[in-house]
Amino acid sequence: MDADGLSVYDAIRLRRDVRAEFTGDVVDDATLWRILAAAHRAPSVGNSQPWDFVVVRDPSTLRKFAEHVADKRIEFRDALPEERATTFAPIKIEGIVESGTGIVVSYDHGRGGPQVLGRATVPETGVYSAVLAIQNLWLAATAEGIGVGWVSFYDPEFLTELVGLPDGIRPIAWLCVGPVHEFQQVPDLERFGWRTGRPLTDAVHQETFRA
Ligand SMILES: Cc1cc2nc3c(=O)[nH]c(=O)nc-3n(C[C@H](O)[C@H](O)[C@H](O)COP(=O)(O)O)c2cc1C
Repeated sequence: MDADGLSVYDAIRLRRDVRAEFTGDVVDDATLWRILAAAHRAPSVGNSQPWDFVVVRDPSTLRKFAEHVADKRIEFRDALPEERATTFAPIKIEGIVESGTGIVVSYDHGRGGPQVLGRATVPETGVYSAVLAIQNLWLAATAEGIGVGWVSFYDPEFLTELVGLPDGIRPIAWLCVGPVHEFQQVPDLERFGWRTGRPLTDAVHQETFRA
């Protein structure tokens, strides 16, 4: 795939949550560092840069995490009504082993000291900042022809222990990162009938929410 010269709009349009399209090759270090540099350029409340990135490639760690996620998938499925469980069955929710690289993005609420400029009244702005780093990473990866899949089927305590996050630092995402055959044109959850997107005109309001 040649993704050279993509505009930011092209990357936004092309970006997909990737589960099944990883080639099995591992992203090379130079590309990975460019993608991480894009993530690290994200805006952050009070310039606190509250994120860290743990790059995981040890096959035994990838396997352990994949097994944990498989258990969580079963728990989720078992709580679904029958008809939803049938729709859910064929949907792949992760490509942890196939991607060859996991990036655990963590959040440190203590970063930036006790007076983070702009976080006093909205404490969540710290986590928002880390999520912006993820979006930068995701779009930069897309521009490089690299797929990203966000996995959130995990117990935070399990992932904290698995990658050795220190006290006070919590995981906010496991990202599967790797070369892909292609990007699907339609999100998997739409293709498999789980949930479709809504039109922009429903999301945009004029002057007040009700309008
Ligand atoms: C916070 C967050 C958590 C997500 N967790 C998962 C997940 O555990 N497994 C999965 O398959 N997709 C996960 N996704 C991907 C969404 O399902 C996906 O973004 C959505 O269906 C739209 O598809 P698209 O990203 O391809 O446009 C997550 C996305 C976000 C933003």
